[in-house]
Amino acid sequence: MSDLYRFGISLDRELIEAFDRHIAEQRYQSRSEAIRDLIREELVTKKWTEGGIVAGAIVMTYDHHKRELVNKLLDIQHDFHDIIISTQHVHLDHGNCLEVIAVRGNASQVLELSTALKVLVGVKHLDLSISAAE
Ligand code: NI
Repeated sequence: MSDLYRFGISLDRELIEAFDRHIAEQRYQSRSEAIRDLIREELVTKKWTEGGIVAGAIVMTYDHHKRELVNKLLDIQHDFHDIIISTQHVHLDHGNCLEVIAVRGNASQVLELSTALKVLVGVKHLDLSISAAE
């Protein structure tokens, strides 16, 4: 970070004490780093609500013995091929698979893909993690 901008913030003592406890629990090294993350999160949330371009990953686990599930997962992924950058598949054990799907595209489309996968019977867990793309 070569071009740092410094500014002061006025806060109620109660609020800053609560914030300091919070960031200590999160193991932040400094208030600055915690505030940077809050600002970034807020800007990513703004992108969501405005339907901007986002990049991220869908992490999911599923039961690959579930009838037709693997075919359904593949069909859906082909429907969204234009926003899927890559997929990584891990055979966790005899019956369970882990899949990491890297995505980049319109926020509403990314959410649509994530929801389409999440609701399938046999998908045990799905988490969508998003960063701003630009
Ligand atoms: Ni597998």
